[in-house]
Amino acid sequence: MSGLVLDGKRIRDEILSELRPRIEALKAKGRTPALAVVLVGDDPASHIYVRNKLKASEELGIRSIELRVPGDLSTAQLSEYLSARKDELGSADAILVQMPLPPQIDGEAITTRFVDGAHDVDGFGPFSLGQLVLNRPWPRACTPAGIMELLRRYGIAIAGRKAVVGGRSDIVGKPMALLLLHANATVTICHSRTTDLAAECRTADILVAAIGRPAMIGPEHIKPGAVVIDVGMNRVIDKAHAHRLFAHQPKRLESFEKTGSVLVGDVDPRAMEELSSAYTPVPGGVGPLTIAMLMANTVTLAEHRQEC
Ligand code: GUN
Repeated sequence: MSGLVLDGKRIRDEILSELRPRIEALKAKGRTPALAVVLVGDDPASHIYVRNKLKASEELGIRSIELRVPGDLSTAQLSEYLSARKDELGSADAILVQMPLPPQIDGEAITTRFVDGAHDVDGFGPFSLGQLVLNRPWPRACTPAGIMELLRRYGIAIAGRKAVVGGRSDIVGKPMALLLLHANATVTICHSRTTDLAAECRTADILVAAIGRPAMIGPEHIKPGAVVIDVGMNRVIDKAHAHRLFAHQPKRLESFEKTGSVLVGDVDPRAMEELSSAYTPVPGGVGPLTIAMLMANTVTLAEHRQEC
């Protein structure tokens, strides 16, 4: 069997094009939606994510406010810096603090003070998480929300099916499990202390891997015909490892030879392609959906503010 490729870029484009009339309607009422992004330090991956978020905002006509802060500030200094920009932050409909923060920063203190529920575009805070647990409408964490959109738009049934989520992070695993539960799946969450990960995963009709370890999920974890969603985005630099993973994809190996690295998800690509009925490729599966949902959440928060 060769699984259907679930094309995250196509779904991203659909989501973004549906946002355009909503943005125009807000603008017609004199409210251009605005997203504020706080970026602390110079983590290269965070810089790329933030650049992509700002680019997507610009392309849609969402105003963006970028606050870049040196990585050596203390929590008190960062707090002081953001307090001095309260008007600027207050003019935004949506605020996010890019994670991870440098280790000396108390992220909870910062987000508690500067990102209240009404501006929580990531859906990470206690108000948004309360709304999620209670299944009340409110912006959800972007990656799990994007996965639900992907499943819905591909017509993949969830109700009554067995879903297994690998990973229990606050950002992906836990909200993902709750969203699948609210869609009436029977849900299992696996984590580093799960006794027999492969046996649990093999029960899944829908398997979501959000573990953060390159190709950890192999053929022994996948029930033939399962839908496999790979949230992982890991860079492999070891040549032997790259060759083991992509022996069946010479183009990926050519690119490894040129650049010295290759991206792989949390699922072994060959196992996923050969055993699943449908799967998200890495890259081009889940990744593009996260930013689309960030834009959708920004618009939703702006509409909410307009109505208040
Ligand atoms: N770092 C990696 N992903 C995310 C995200 O979705 N939101 C924020 N704020 N930081 C991140």
